[in-house]
Amino acid sequence: MKLSTGVRRLAERPRNTLLEAARQYPDLISLGRGDPDLPTPDHIIAAAKGALDGGHTHYTHLHGDPVLRRALAEKLERDNGIHADPETEILVTTGAQEALYLVVQALLDVDDELLIPDPHYTSYDLAALAARGRVIPVPTYHEDDFVVRPDEIERRITAQTRALAIVSPNNPTGAVYPSEALARIAEVAIRHELVVISDEIYELQLFAGQRHTSLGSFPGMRERTITINGFSKGYAMTGWRVGYIVAPADVVAALGALHHTLTICAPAFAQQAAIAALTGPQEAVAELVRTYDERQRLFVRGLREIGLDAFEPRGTFYVFVDIRRIGVSSQEFTKRLLDEARVLMYPGSYFGTAGEGFARASMTLPPAKLREALDRMGSAEVVRRARAR
Ligand SMILES: Cc1ncc(COP(=O)(O)O)c(C=O)c1O
Repeated sequence: MKLSTGVRRLAERPRNTLLEAARQYPDLISLGRGDPDLPTPDHIIAAAKGALDGGHTHYTHLHGDPVLRRALAEKLERDNGIHADPETEILVTTGAQEALYLVVQALLDVDDELLIPDPHYTSYDLAALAARGRVIPVPTYHEDDFVVRPDEIERRITAQTRALAIVSPNNPTGAVYPSEALARIAEVAIRHELVVISDEIYELQLFAGQRHTSLGSFPGMRERTITINGFSKGYAMTGWRVGYIVAPADVVAALGALHHTLTICAPAFAQQAAIAALTGPQEAVAELVRTYDERQRLFVRGLREIGLDAFEPRGTFYVFVDIRRIGVSSQEFTKRLLDEARVLMYPGSYFGTAGEGFARASMTLPPAKLREALDRMGSAEVVRRARAR
């Protein structure tokens, strides 16, 4: 069948062949996908059940249930220092994934450029490709804790640059941008009149001593920031598909039409569950974070015992494993790790050129499984070689 040029370009992107290869190993330990293994908290599930019984089984308002938008506006004011009008400045989406797609379509025309610190979440590339624009990666470095240097951003600004996307806490590195770094980025954005997409989907996944700051809260940034967030990661609700966008009213109004074309609205009962997540007890969130923190500590310690290292994550549930000593590409490392240890990680190069030399491991398995993964890795030839060096 003759497919459109746009869809063919998307489909031509290299496939995740590692995932296909992993299927042949029944005893695989997968540290691949970014999906929390822990269950959605009980009170959220109860709210969804009640919502189904209570008739929340139809379309909601195009911009999302008004009660959810009001709860979000309160949360944004309280936790993020962002004042948003729930009537006009918030759009509830089917996950942050829909949100980022909408926003990228809204900002990029043909050949327009979106700057993003690299390594990065590559759905932004696909969204840019769909808009016939492109992502311009801005490298980040281990020695900077994977926080982008403002001058590296400035060097890449061209007449085609439309926006800058910042993801903090970051997937895949686990970096968290300190407030001072964000202030410098805000200064660059204002000086060059850039729109900033602030993807804060990992906002709640912060380890000891870390603080989350929203770019939209800096002076002069509210009018140029589009904040993306959602419930998937913080509340272990990946399957519920609720996300949201916070943006100036004219942007939200414009996004509404494309949102209607794609999904009309996020699932109605899931929006009720999201209200329960926001307004209910937050202990479960803290418990999730404690769990990921313990796991990442165990894993990083274990890596060091077998002769590897890692960037110590400041948040999220990812560990960015440093494989530079091994002397093979991240693609080869992860393939050999799969074949020799039946452990799946994603090569850093999947996340962009600056991810080379690293592999991403998700801490979405219980400690016993992580220990087993470390044991198997310790015996794998590809890791033993690093130790021998
Ligand atoms: C940086 C980033 N943004 C957005 C998403 C999409 O999240 P959601 O489940 O809300 O669609 C993800 C999911 O992994 C992500 O890592």
